[in-house]
Amino acid sequence: MNILEQEFIKGFMRMCSDGFMQGWHERNGGNLSYRMKEQEVQSIQSAFSYQRAWTDIGTEVLNLANEYFLVTGSGKYFRNVELNPEANIGIVEIDATGTQYRVVWGLINGAVPTSELPTHLMNHAVKKMTTNNLHRVIYHCHTTNVIALTFVLPLKDEIFTRELWEMATECPVVFPSGVGVVPWMVPGGKDIAVATSEKMHNYDVAIWAHHGIFCSGIDFDATFGLAHTVEKSAEILVKMLSMTPHKLQTITPAQFCHLAKEFHVSLPEKFLYEK
Ligand code: 13P
Ligand code: ZN
Repeated sequence: MNILEQEFIKGFMRMCSDGFMQGWHERNGGNLSYRMKEQEVQSIQSAFSYQRAWTDIGTEVLNLANEYFLVTGSGKYFRNVELNPEANIGIVEIDATGTQYRVVWGLINGAVPTSELPTHLMNHAVKKMTTNNLHRVIYHCHTTNVIALTFVLPLKDEIFTRELWEMATECPVVFPSGVGVVPWMVPGGKDIAVATSEKMHNYDVAIWAHHGIFCSGIDFDATFGLAHTVEKSAEILVKMLSMTPHKLQTITPAQFCHLAKEFHVSLPEKFLYEK
């Protein structure tokens, strides 16, 4: 059994390379985590090593106790993941109290999981609960145009959601619950993890002001596609604002309602305000 031949590892590595090619992972920017299925753990568990020490997560994720996650390493470059997986990604086990982790595969030579592990795990904890165990992927990337917008738009869920929805007709269908915005905070700790996971109760996308985005999804395709859609929409908005501060025409609340009906999505009333 070759760990690197497992479908979930191949999908994970492909997503790292795809994200790098989009320009969202300069240097070690961004991180990715995947909550493994029980059968995936069982099929490769014989290759795990339980020698490494337990380490504090820095927060508590009780409903993830004893689960296994594939994660990117801290300080590791997405462009190197496919070239040398064992050095750049690894599998961690969460302990029975949901407060500690240990590396059981990969992250060789003393490498450690991403510094955003608290946010990843707290997001997973919320999504496991609110999606009835469906969501398994949490993705953090430094999406250029979304970041640019956090300097010029008010940092409000209602404003970002509505502006992004208006830029591409597919947006309300791809992220009908909208996007949340977290104000600038110091990354890498419990505080930003708590603030982000609060947004994840309502949304699958959380924007970090002047930093990037976090997305959640059921698999690699859905999660990458979500980040891609949000960033594409942000790019259109940046282009539009570069041409003129005023829209001559746009998609109206009544048209969003029509779209929602045809595509069988429900759009929260709070995003359909009259301007
Ligand atoms: P890591 O290299 O620790 O994953 O950090 C990258 C990053 O984007 C922090 O927000
Ligand atoms: Zn980051």
